[in-house]
Formats: sequence, structure tokens, C-alpha cells
Amino acid sequence: MSRPLKSVHGEWTSRWAFILAATGAAVGLGNIWKFPYIAGEYGGGAFVLVYLACIFAIGVPIMMAEILIGRRGRQNPFNSLASLAEEEKASSLWKYLGFGGVLAGFLILSYYSVIAGQAIAYVPRLLFGVFEGVTPDGARNLHLALIQDPEKLLAWHTLFMMLTMLIVSRGVQRGLEKSVRFLMPALFLILLILVAYAYQTGVYFNQAVTFLFKPDFSRLTTEGVLTAMGHAFFTLSLGMGAIMVYGSYLPKKASILKVSLAISFMDTAVAILAGLAIFPLVFANGMSPGAGPSLIFETLPIAFGHMENGAFFGAMFFLLLVFAGLSSAIALVEPVVTWLVENFEIKRLNACIWVGILVWLLGLLSLFSFNVLKDWTWLDMTAFELLDYLTANIMLPLGGMLIAIFAGWTMSQRSTQEELGIKSYLIYHEWRFLVRYVTPIAIFVVFVSLTGVLDF
Ligand code: PFF
Ligand code: NA
Repeated sequence: MSRPLKSVHGEWTSRWAFILAATGAAVGLGNIWKFPYIAGEYGGGAFVLVYLACIFAIGVPIMMAEILIGRRGRQNPFNSLASLAEEEKASSLWKYLGFGGVLAGFLILSYYSVIAGQAIAYVPRLLFGVFEGVTPDGARNLHLALIQDPEKLLAWHTLFMMLTMLIVSRGVQRGLEKSVRFLMPALFLILLILVAYAYQTGVYFNQAVTFLFKPDFSRLTTEGVLTAMGHAFFTLSLGMGAIMVYGSYLPKKASILKVSLAISFMDTAVAILAGLAIFPLVFANGMSPGAGPSLIFETLPIAFGHMENGAFFGAMFFLLLVFAGLSSAIALVEPVVTWLVENFEIKRLNACIWVGILVWLLGLLSLFSFNVLKDWTWLDMTAFELLDYLTANIMLPLGGMLIAIFAGWTMSQRSTQEELGIKSYLIYHEWRFLVRYVTPIAIFVVFVSLTGVLDF
């Protein structure tokens, strides 16, 4: 299989367009919904430190590896890996790594859509002043009423899936690129307003800063380390070929190092801002940082319910969160859609319809796990928790490890050096050292420590 010079799906119109789209894929529910609640569950500071270390020592080098494989292969992950492996005279088994990614994307989107659906539900709720003057208990009960009603959740989940597939069916430039140009700056702005509001809580703001940034290693568990590492992959959209597909539309001259740093930096900034907006409220209202997946739905409405023009800002915030979720959701299905289009000559629209229906169906499992199937657990986890654990903590790090091995060991130095186009000897070799040794070993050690053989 030879590799084409350009993707059949077109190219990003510029390097900026790529940065925007990939940042859109990265910034999503992971930053605003998931990061705060797992940081809360795993005790703050030390967890956040491990997370930041994973972003820069594991996330950035693997992101560069994914983009370079995508841009050199110019096809869906499956085919790109196949043609690069052939070129390097390596095993043709590498292409099956693409399947793992397709599967992870499927599974993640199924529950991602259920949570994003809840964010949609909050837009009218805030707009109509439902949370005006709300108490912590009131906010909690309003959220419970939503997740305990399967019909409501179903309606919102269905709407989110339809919107996702609509955007993906429109293709790379018209669909993916447009949606992020306005979104990112607007999201940033509202987050800053929220942080400013939280800042007024004074001592509680300080308490939040201490909680998030003062590491207390006695609270760090092996499970916490795994979750921090898994979240580094989840939040940067790594380990499943999404960024690889986006890389396949990247023009040749763009610097892979620079775009990777820019994307990782913006993603991290959004997560930290979300934490600074949420934890002061948690402490000021005597709530628990470990509230789990409900955290943002129970804390933020309290802020919006008490601030001036809160209905407007609140509705805007959740609307932006939905858009951020959409620009991530489209990245989750792009690998499977391109694979169907390139290898089976299925029309993009038809591929979208079938993929959409399957993901929607699978989503029912997570949806019901918040209500009628709440007691249906395996290894002490509900269906939603199980899917989240399996994908974020296992599949993505495993995928990332294999991608690092492919880029560091299977691809020749000549190929990666040429594709990365890094002039500095030092920086190139630092990257190569990270993907060859540091990332695979770190991921391996975390996995092994889970089995209890190692204990830290
Ligand atoms: N990075 C997204 C988030 O933080 O919400 C989630 C995600 C999107 C993961 C796309 C994986 C992916 F391919
Ligand atoms: Na993210």
C-alpha cells in the first residue's frame, strides 16, 4: 500500500485552522466536567501534579508522534499505520492498532453524549432562571431529578448525537473547522468571569488554590496515578487515532512541535481555570470535592443563581460547554468515519448515519446506569463507570504506548526526523528519547503497579 501525498478528505486551510480544530478536539467535557471531579475525588494537589507531569512528559511527545504518523500516512489510522509499517519493512500487524482506536472512540462517545446531553438540558434551565437564588441542596435535587428521569436524558442524548453526526457528515472544512473559531475565545472569556466570581469568595478561593496546587502525597493512591495518566490521554484526545486523523489533514510545512505545545497548553489552561472556578464554590457552600460526575452540575448553578445576569452567563456557559463537547465528539468518530469512507467506499453521509445509530444505542447503557440500571454493577462499577475506566484508564494509555513504540522504534530516525522537521539536534533527540524510553516505560510501570505487584 503506498501513501498518498494528500488526504482525500482535503486539508486544513492553514496551520491555524489545524490548531483550532485540534484544540477543539482536546478542549471538551474532559476539561470542565471531568478534570475537576477526578481532581476532587483523588485528593487535589498531588493528583494535579502527576496529571501535569503526564501532560508534558507523556502527552506532548505522543501527540507529536500521532500527528507525524497521520501526516506522513495521509489516511485513516488503519491505513496510515499499514503503509508506514510497509515502508519501514515492519510487521503488517501494526495496522490493527487502528482498530483499537476506532473501538475506543465508539465507547467514549457513547457516554460522552449522555453527559453532554445534560449540559444541553442546563441551557434552558439557566436561561429561564430555574436556579435563581438556589441553595446547594436545591441545585443537587434539580440535578438528581434530571438524571433519574430516563426519558429526559434520552431526549438530550438523542439531540446531542444528531448534532454530532450532522457536523461530521459535512466533512472536514465546512463541518469541523468552522465550529471552533468562535467557540474557544468565548469559552475562555466565560471561564474567566467565573473565576473572577469565585475569587470574591476570599478565603475559600485560597482554600481552593491550596487544594489544587499544594501536593499532599499521602493522599495519592495507585488508582489516582493511573487516573491522572489516563486523563492526560483523554483530555488531549490521544491514544486512539483522533489526533492522527486530524494530522492527516495538516499541511506539510507546519511545525509539529509548535502545534503540539500550543494545543497542550490551551487544554491545560482551560482545565485549571475550570478548577479555579469550581472549587471555591465547593468550599464556600460546604460541599464535598469528591461529589463525582455530578460536581459541575451541582456547583456552578449556585454561582449563576447568585451573580448578576447569572441566567445569561449561565446559559451561555452551558451552551459553550455543549459546543466544546461537540468539537470533541466529532473527533471521536472521525477515525471510524474516514476508515469506512476510504476502505469500503461508503458515502460519508451513510457512514455517519450508521455510526451514529450504533453509538446512540450503546449510549443507552450509560444513560440507564444513572437510573434504572443503577444497581447493575461489575467490579463495583456501573456501566458508565466501567466504560469510562476501560477507555480512559486502559485503552487510551495502551494505545498511546503502542503509538510511542511505533514512532520511536519501528519508524526509522530518518523518517521521523524528516517528518518532524525539527532543526535542533537536542530537541529532536529529546523527543526521540521520550517516545522510545520514557513514555512506554512509565505507562508500563503504572499498569504493573495496578496489579499490586508494585506498590507506591
Ligand atoms: N479530549 C476530549 C475532552 O477532554 O473532553 C475528549 C476526547 C475527544 C477524547 C476526542 C478522545 C478523543 F478522540
Ligand atoms: Na481536554
